Amino acid sequence: MNIVLMGLPGAGKGTQAAHIIDELKIPHISTGDMFRQAVKEETPLGLEAKTYLDQGKLVPDEVTIGIVRERLGKDDCANGFMLDGFPRTVPQAEALDELTKELNRPIDYVIYIDVDEEELLKRLTGRRICRECGATYHVVFAPPKVDGVCDRCNGELYQRDDDKIETVKERLKINMEQIQKLLRYYESTGKLHRVDGKQPIEDVTKEIMSVIRGAKS
Ligand code: AP5
Repeated sequence: MNIVLMGLPGAGKGTQAAHIIDELKIPHISTGDMFRQAVKEETPLGLEAKTYLDQGKLVPDEVTIGIVRERLGKDDCANGFMLDGFPRTVPQAEALDELTKELNRPIDYVIYIDVDEEELLKRLTGRRICRECGATYHVVFAPPKVDGVCDRCNGELYQRDDDKIETVKERLKINMEQIQKLLRYYESTGKLHRVDGKQPIEDVTKEIMSVIRGAKS
């Protein structure tokens, strides 16, 4: 099963992907995670991406398409994959169409997690991530058992630099412009499914799973 998970920053793509890949046993491909890892390792890609990430801007299409092309060609994607945060522009969607055709790995579902801006602001500014295992928490909506400590691995929780309020506003502005165009692009394919992302985390997962299992159109 080849899935694209779409949504504005903070809609819950990473949170949902973590649950769904567990069930479907497919790799989770997050361009945001790939860029952050490259920044951490100070690779040439990381040095280029850092300026964009720090400002909440999109990394140029050619760079982003290049890393996805390389990743989707790997063997572990042969039985399916879940893309999170890609595509984010129409040129990226067009490149993905070409790439999946080339690889004979067509997209089955495009799932859009729909959440309004006010809620997104609360989610992003309250998000905390584990430095060790990358698990996602929220200070109010999904708090860890012990403040500042990961439930899974006892790692330290931190706030992403781009989750500070000024950068969050810029990210939302830029992504909102792009997402409307992308939704129009996917409307015509018949693969787009909108899911109400304001429900509790478990209910969003159930709704996504019903789409994937073919129980909801
Ligand atoms: P990326 O890491 O992809 O960031 P994003 O799209 O801004 O998405 P987020 O990771 O912020 O949010 P999410 O939807 O995963 O939400 P989460 O599950 O964490 O990208 C970062 C940067 O990389 C970009 O700004 C750009 O510079 C670059 N980049 C990446 N892809 C690119 C591309 N294709 N092209 C160009 N540049 C690219 O949830 C958020 C919070 O809400 C958490 O605290 C969570 O616990 C909580 N939460 C989740 N669901 C619920 C719920 N149902 N109810 C209550 N709380 C919830």
